[in-house]
Amino acid sequence: MTDLKGKVVMITGSRRGMGKAHALAFAKAGAKVVVCDISQEECVKVVKEAEKNGGEAIALKCDVTNKKEVDNVVKAAVSKWGRLDILVNNAGIAQFFPFLEITEEDWDRTINVNLKGYYLCAQAAAKQMAKQKSGAIVNVASVAMGQVGIGFPSIAHYCASKGGIVAMTEALAIELAPYNIRINAIAPGMIETPMIDPVKQDPKNMKGILARVPMGRVGKPEEVSNLVLFLASDAASYMTGSTVVIDGGWLAT
Ligand SMILES: NC(=O)c1ccc[n+]([C@@H]2O[C@H](COP(=O)([O-])OP(=O)(O)OC[C@H]3O[C@@H](n4cnc5c(N)ncnc54)[C@H](O)[C@@H]3O)[C@@H](O)[C@H]2O)c1
Repeated sequence: MTDLKGKVVMITGSRRGMGKAHALAFAKAGAKVVVCDISQEECVKVVKEAEKNGGEAIALKCDVTNKKEVDNVVKAAVSKWGRLDILVNNAGIAQFFPFLEITEEDWDRTINVNLKGYYLCAQAAAKQMAKQKSGAIVNVASVAMGQVGIGFPSIAHYCASKGGIVAMTEALAIELAPYNIRINAIAPGMIETPMIDPVKQDPKNMKGILARVPMGRVGKPEEVSNLVLFLASDAASYMTGSTVVIDGGWLAT
């Protein structure tokens, strides 16, 4: 049921971190992968790694805030492989500022990448998927999405964007179901990627967070890939509009 052989998947922000892990996991599962991010050069490295393991992938530059670049990536996937089956909306930024110091530019940058970027990619992908009458979208939110019993100081703009992703996922699940397009979100806890470097610089804060995670450790990107592949596959055929938490038990505490 989780067979992804021959499926065409676009993964935003896949030059490093979780996006890279997802790209390699999809390639290993036999999918054809569009690796895209702000630096094409680094995407090429991911493609080479995928190819070394027998996978098939292409590298493209795509700033998710740029509609033209987003549309071009979808076009390139369709012109190379004839279709687009899966979008993983993964690109994101997290900039830590106390709320009283966040500037309008900081706010706009975060909302543009984390929320507008998800809209642009979802719309471009869904237009193609609607023509095919099939598709699956996985949106990467976060435990910082709100309404979970924990607040996250110094990233108010990030939290607003992640809450927006969850709300958008629910709205799109309704609108896209008639086209046989499923859309779900995931809400990772603390995962070992360059994004958490600033948190790790404060060992006391890091220790405090891990003390609240029953499993007592951060997650590995590959552990999140397992969930993304499941949601993107036919094994999740009755799932749409859901947000699945993957956090080592953090929100259970
Ligand atoms: N690491 C965590 O603990 C954690 C927890 C919850 C959610 N997330 C989310 O997971 C996703 C992946 O983050 P990560 O942890 O791998 O961090 P990361 O910083 O390693 O990866 C983010 C990627 O997004 C790319 N990106 C940034 N701006 C972009 C733009 N304008 N266009 C295209 N790509 C852009 C970056 O180049 C980078 O490759 C993000 O959406 C993040 O918010 C991360």
